Amino acid sequence: MILADVMDYREAARRRIPQFLFDYIDGGAFAETTLRDNIARLQDVRLRQRVLTGADGVSLAGTLLGRTVKMPVALAPVGMAGLNARRGEVQAARAAEAQGVPFCLSTVGACSIEEVRAGVQTPPWFQLYVTRDRGFMRDMVARAHAAGSETLFLTVDMPSPGPRYRDKRSGLSGGTPLQRQLMRIAQVVTRPAWAFDVGLLGGPHTIGHVSTAVGAGAGIDDYWSWMASNFDASVTWDDAEEIRALWPGQMVIKGILDPEDAREAAKRGFDGVVVSNHGGRQLDGTLAAIDALGPIAEAVGDRMAVLMDGGIRSGLDVLRAMASGADGVLLGRAWVYGLAADGQRGVEGVLSLIAAEMRVAMTLVGVNRLDQIGPHLLVTQTGSKAPT
Ligand SMILES: Cc1cc2nc3c(=O)[nH]c(=O)nc-3n(C[C@H](O)[C@H](O)[C@H](O)COP(=O)(O)O)c2cc1C
Repeated sequence: MILADVMDYREAARRRIPQFLFDYIDGGAFAETTLRDNIARLQDVRLRQRVLTGADGVSLAGTLLGRTVKMPVALAPVGMAGLNARRGEVQAARAAEAQGVPFCLSTVGACSIEEVRAGVQTPPWFQLYVTRDRGFMRDMVARAHAAGSETLFLTVDMPSPGPRYRDKRSGLSGGTPLQRQLMRIAQVVTRPAWAFDVGLLGGPHTIGHVSTAVGAGAGIDDYWSWMASNFDASVTWDDAEEIRALWPGQMVIKGILDPEDAREAAKRGFDGVVVSNHGGRQLDGTLAAIDALGPIAEAVGDRMAVLMDGGIRSGLDVLRAMASGADGVLLGRAWVYGLAADGQRGVEGVLSLIAAEMRVAMTLVGVNRLDQIGPHLLVTQTGSKAPT
C-alpha cells in the first residue's frame, strides 16, 4: 500500500501485526477521551500563514537535551515495542540513528539496553520506571550508565497502570489464561508475515530487563503480572530526588501536566520535563498534552528543557507543538506504527515523512530555522497572537 502519511503506517501496522499487539499500541485508558483529545486539540492549533518571506533553505538541525540532532524529535520510550518486528527496538534505534534523532529505550522494552547499545554507534537514552523492587530499579540505572546513556527519563505518570479495555477484549490481559491463549493464537495465525518474522525468528520473546526477575520460561502473562504488581503509588518527590542523585548525567521527568509539578521538578534539580499524559493511557479526561504545554513552558521554560508528547502524527504537529512552547517533541505511536508496518525501514519512513512535512510547514509560516519558531506563529481567535 502507498504510505503517504503516518496514519497510512498505522493502517499498514494494523494489517501486519496480531490484533492484541495493535490494540496495545493504538489504545488508551478508560473511554479514550484523552487519547482522542491529544490529537484533536493539536489539530485545533492554528498557525499564521506568511507569504513572500524568502524563507528558503529550511534547516531542522538543532540540539535536544544537549545532543546535536537533525530535527527536534526523539523516539519516545514504548514498552514491548520490540515485539512488533524482529528485535524491534534495535531496528528502531538504528532508524533513529540513520535519521539523526535520539532513541529512548523503555524499562519494559523487548530488547535490553545492552542489545540495543550493541546495534548502534550512539548510546540510546533510557527511560526508568520506579518499581517496587528498588534493587531492580537501581540495577537498571547502573546498566543504563554502563551502556553510555547520557540522559535518563524518569516516568512518573504511572503510579498505577490505567485500565485499557482494548487490552482486555483483545486477549492481552482479559479473560482466563486459556481464553487469552486461544485468542492470541487465533490472531497470530491470521498474520503469517509477523508470525514468521517475530514469532519464529524474533526470539527470545521476553521483556528484556524483566526476564531475570520473572525467571526462565516465563510467558506473556507472567511479564504482565510482574509489571502490574511492580508499579508503585507510594513514590514521592523526595524519592524522585534520591533517584536524581543516583544518576550522574541529565535527568528528565516524563509525565508532567501541571505547572506546579514542573516548578517542583526544576527545584529538585531535574534538567527537563516531558509534558505528557502517557499518550492518553493513564488519566482519561485530563488535559490534552498540547493544552498543558503553554502554561508549563511559561512556568519553567527559561530554566529547563520542555519537551512534549501526545498526538504528534505529522511534521506540521511538531511545528504546532514548538510554536506552543516545546523545545522538541517525542513520537510515541507514530514510530511504533512504522516499526510494525515495515521494521527499521518503516521507522525511517515515518521519520523522513515528519522531516519533510516539517520543512514544508516551516516554509509556509515563513521561517527557516528552529530558533525562529515561537508563539508569534500562532493564530488566536482574534487574529495573530503577536506581531513579528
Ligand atoms: C504502547 C505504548 C507503550 C508505552 N510504554 C511506555 C513506557 O514503557 N514508558 C514510558 O515512559 N512511556 C510509555 N508510553 C508513552 C510514550 O512514551 C508517549 O508518552 C506517548 O506514546 C505519546 O503519545 P503518542 O503515542 O500519541 O505520540 C507508551 C505509549 C504507548 C502507545
